Amino acid sequence: MYVCICNALTDKQVISAIARGCAKPSEIYSNYETAPRCGKCAIKMNELIARQNPSPTAAR
Ligand code: FES
Repeated sequence: MYVCICNALTDKQVISAIARGCAKPSEIYSNYETAPRCGKCAIKMNELIARQNPSPTAAR
């Protein structure tokens, strides 16, 4: 399933980036050498970050 349509990033790619230490959507974009465009995916990315890493920093 695509999380970020603008950059063609899937949920598996986002989860993989989180597992490698990405804790913010901006870090996930950078991990795949992309940048936010419309920004609509940030909500879903934050949900995945919170699910994978339920620490206080995950909500930032
Ligand atoms: S869906 Fe990710 S920037 Fe548009």
